[in-house]
Amino acid sequence: MAVNKEELEAFTSDGGIGWGEHHHDLFAGTERFFEPVYRTNLVERWIPALDGVEEKLKSGARVADVGCGHGASLILLARAFPASTFVGFDYHEGSVEAARDSAAQAGVGDRVSFQVAGADSFGGEPYDLVCVFNALHEWGDPVGAARHIRSRLAPDGTWMFTEPCTDDELVESVRARTFFSVSTFVCTPSALSQGGEDALGAQAGEANLRRVVEGAGFTRFRRAAETPAFMVLEARP
Ligand SMILES: C[S@@+](CC[C@H](N)C(=O)[O-])C[C@H]1O[C@@H](n2cnc3c(N)ncnc32)[C@H](O)[C@@H]1O
Repeated sequence: MAVNKEELEAFTSDGGIGWGEHHHDLFAGTERFFEPVYRTNLVERWIPALDGVEEKLKSGARVADVGCGHGASLILLARAFPASTFVGFDYHEGSVEAARDSAAQAGVGDRVSFQVAGADSFGGEPYDLVCVFNALHEWGDPVGAARHIRSRLAPDGTWMFTEPCTDDELVESVRARTFFSVSTFVCTPSALSQGGEDALGAQAGEANLRRVVEGAGFTRFRRAAETPAFMVLEARP
C-alpha cells in the first residue's frame, strides 16, 4: 500500500484521516470487498442466527444501518424483506449519494432511504433492528455511539454488528496482517480524526467489543454467527 502525502502528514501529527479524505476508489473498493460477503451470508445465515429478528423482518420491522457506506447491506435486506422499511446513515455525504443511486437502481427506493448523519446522532422512530457492518471500529467514540444506538432501539430491539474476526491476542496470519494494514492506514486514522481516544482499529477483538457493548448499557451480548473472516455480534438492551 503506497503512503501518500496526507498519510505522511497524519503519521507525523495527530494521526487522523477522515473517511471522506481518502481517494474515492476506497469507497467503491470497500463495497466490492464486503458486498459478496453480505450477499452470501446476511439473509441466509446471519439474520436467522439472531433471536426473533427474521420473524419481525418478515412481518414488517424498522431497520437502520449505521455507517452504511454505499448501502449494499441494506439493499440486500430490503430485497429479502418487502414488508419492512429501512434507513441507512453515514457521515460521508458522497457515500450516501451513491447509496441512494444504488437503491433506486435496485428498485427498492420506496422502502429504503439514506441520510447523512453520525453514529452518535442519527434519528428516526425506535428501530427493531440496528445494523452496523464493519464500521464500529472506525468511530471516534464507540461507547458513545453504542449508547446512542441503544437509545434508538425499541425495548425488545436488536443491535447486530459485524467486525473482522480476530483473537483477543496478537496473531500472525495473512488475514490478520491484511486487516492490521488496512486498520493502520484507514480505520485507526478515521477514529483519530474524530477525536477518538478509544480508537479500536480493525482488529479490536471480542473482549474489547464486549467492553464497548456493556459500557453502553446493553445487558445481553453474544457472538451469534461467524465466517472465517467476520464475526456477527448480537446485543440487546
Ligand atoms: C469500512 S466502511 C463500511 C461501510 C459499509 N457498512 C459496508 O460494510 O460496506 C465504514 C463506514 O463508516 C462511516 N463512518 C465513519 N465514521 C462514522 C461516524 N462517526 N458516523 C457515521 N458513519 C461513519 C464511513 O463513512 C464509512 O462509510
